[in-house]
Amino acid sequence: MCGIVGYVGKQKAATIILEGLKRLEYRGYDSAGVCVLKDGRLELAKKSGRVEVLVKEVARHHFTGTTGIGHTRWATHGGVTDANAHPHISSDGKFALIHNGVIENYSQIKTFLLSKGYGFQSETDTEVLCNLIAYHYAKEPAGASNPPHANGHGTGSGSRFLESVRKALQHVEGTYGIAVLCVDCPTELVAARKASPLLLGVGDGEHIIASDASAIISRTQSVVYLKDGEIVHLARGGFTITTLEQEDVSPVVDKITWSISDAEKGNYAHFMEKEIFEQPIALENSMRGRFSEDGSTANFGGLNLTASELRQIDRFMFCACGTAWHACLVTEHLIERFARLPVEVDYASEFRYRNSPLDRNTLFFVMSQSGETIDTLAALREAQRKGYRVLAINNVVGSTIAREANGGIYQHVGPEIGVASTKAFTSQLLIGAMVALYIARLRDMSFSDGVSYVSALKGAPDLVRQVLKQAPEIKAIAKRFARHADFLFLGRLSLFPLALEGALKLKEISYIHAEGYPAAEMKHGPIALISEECPSVFFAPKGEIFNKVVSSMQEIKARKGPVIAIITEGCELPPGLADAVITLPDCHEAVLPIVAAVPVQLLSYYIAVERGCDVDKPRNLAKSVTVE
Ligand code: M6R
Repeated sequence: MCGIVGYVGKQKAATIILEGLKRLEYRGYDSAGVCVLKDGRLELAKKSGRVEVLVKEVARHHFTGTTGIGHTRWATHGGVTDANAHPHISSDGKFALIHNGVIENYSQIKTFLLSKGYGFQSETDTEVLCNLIAYHYAKEPAGASNPPHANGHGTGSGSRFLESVRKALQHVEGTYGIAVLCVDCPTELVAARKASPLLLGVGDGEHIIASDASAIISRTQSVVYLKDGEIVHLARGGFTITTLEQEDVSPVVDKITWSISDAEKGNYAHFMEKEIFEQPIALENSMRGRFSEDGSTANFGGLNLTASELRQIDRFMFCACGTAWHACLVTEHLIERFARLPVEVDYASEFRYRNSPLDRNTLFFVMSQSGETIDTLAALREAQRKGYRVLAINNVVGSTIAREANGGIYQHVGPEIGVASTKAFTSQLLIGAMVALYIARLRDMSFSDGVSYVSALKGAPDLVRQVLKQAPEIKAIAKRFARHADFLFLGRLSLFPLALEGALKLKEISYIHAEGYPAAEMKHGPIALISEECPSVFFAPKGEIFNKVVSSMQEIKARKGPVIAIITEGCELPPGLADAVITLPDCHEAVLPIVAAVPVQLLSYYIAVERGCDVDKPRNLAKSVTVE
C-alpha cells in the first residue's frame, strides 16, 4: 500500500524519485506526487492517476533541487483527487510529508489543530500529521538542538526539525512510514516507521529512503532495514537513527542480494507473465541446498529448532492472507497426509481477533511473500504474545515479518512485482511440501519414501517447464472463454485450494466473477449458477477421486455448462464431456499442486490480456497490504 521515496544527495532529486516511484508503483497507483526543496522553497507536483501522469507534470516544472520526497498512493482516507495526493504541505508552508499507513486518531488531532488556526486542503489523515509536526516546530524554541553524537555516521541526532517530528509521532496512533522535508533544513530529511515498511539505501554521497528495495536497487545495494519506532535523520552527508524515545540505534548495513534486472520486465509484456515463466528457476532457488546429503529429507538452516524440539510438536497452526493462505491449505493437506499431524489454517485477519484456543505443543507458522502484510504481522505478534514460537515462510529479506519471527524459511524467488502472486505461490507450495517432508521424516516416513519424495520435488522445475510449453494452447482456450462473466473452479483434496487460487487469480486481474469450490460441494448450491454462460474449470488428476470428479463434470454438462478440464497424463475423459482439456504431466502428490497452479495462472493471465485489463496493476488492489 503506497510507495514512498526520499532522496538527499547531489543529483536532481526529482529524477531519482520518479524512477523510484515507477518501481514502487505496484504498491499503489491511484495518484502520485513529488516535492523538492530548492532555495528555501518547497516545489510540489501531484496528480491523481498513474506515475506516468506525474512524470509529464514534473517535466513542465524543471525541478532542480537535490533533496526531495515522492509518493504513489493507494487511497485510504479521502477519494482519489489531486488534493488528496501526497506530498502534503503544512498550512504554514514549512513542511512536506509523505505517508504510508493510517493515522487512527487523526480526527481528534485535526480538531485540536483547527483550534490552533491550522488549515487543511485535503481529506487525508496524512495532512493532519504534517500540520502536527509544524505545530511542534513552531512551539520549539528556534536554535534548540541536542548535541550531536558520534555513532560513526556523524550527523548528530538532534535538531529542531527532528525533535518536532519525534514529538508529533509521540501523539500519533496508527501505522506509518513517513518522510518529511523542512524548508529551514535544505539538505535534510527525517523519516520514521511504525508497522509500515521503510528502508534506507546508503549510496555514494547520497541516501535514499524507500518503502522497499526495488526503489533503491539502481543506486545502491547497501541497505539499512529500519525497525518499528525508529527515526532516521539524513543530514550533512550522513545519517543517524534514533528511537521515538530518543535512544541511539547503531545501524546495521545489509546487502541486497538481487540485481536491477530482477526488478525489470525484460522482453515480457507484463511482470506477471515474466514471473509465471520464471517459476522453474524460482523453484530451483527455493530448494537449493535444502535437501539432506542422503537425499531423504529436507534441511532448513533458519528454523532455530532442534529435531528433538520439533519432535515435541503435535499440532501446527498456519496463518496467512490471500494466495499465501491457499498455499497454507495445501501445506495442511501434505502435513496431515505425510506426517499424520493435525494442522489448522486460519486467515491472519481472523486469527488476530478470534482469540482461538491453541494447544500447548503447537508450532505456529505465518506465510507471506512480502513479509509486510499487516494482518499476518498482527497474527504473528498475537501468537508470540501468547508465548508461541512463530516461524515465517517469507520472500522479502529483511521484511518486518522475517525480522520479528523466531525463525523461518526464505523463499529466495527474487522480487515479485506483479500484483497477482505467481512464482511466490508455487515456491510457497514447494516449501510447504518440504516442511511436510521434514516433519514426516522425523516421524513415520521411511527412508525410501523420503528418497522418492525428494526426487519428486527435485523434478518439479522440469515438470513446470513442460506445462509452460502449453502456453499457446492455454492462450487459445483463454480467447474462447474470455467474454464469460462467471466462472467456477472446482477441485478436491490438495487441489481444492488450487480451485480457490484459480478463482482468485481470475477475479483479481480480469474482474470476472469466479468462485472456487470443492468439486463435490458444487451441487450444494453453486450448481444454481450453471448455464451456457458459466464455464467450470475442473482439476481432475489421476487417482482415487478421478471418477468422482468426472461425475461432477457430467452434472455440469447435463446443465449445459462449458467444462475446462485439467487432467493428468493417462486420464481418459468420456468423449465430448470437456470443451477444452489441459493435460499435466503425471507426478508425485507433493508436486501436483505446484504443477496444477501453472495452467490456471496462464488461463487468468491470457483472459485478462484478452479483455484489455491492466494485468500488473489491477484496479483497487496493491501488492502489499499494509493497512487493516
Ligand atoms: O505478501 P503476502 O503474501 O502476505 O500477501 C498476501 C495477499 O495479499 C496476496 O497473496 C494477494 O492475495 C495477492 N494479490 C494474490 O495474488
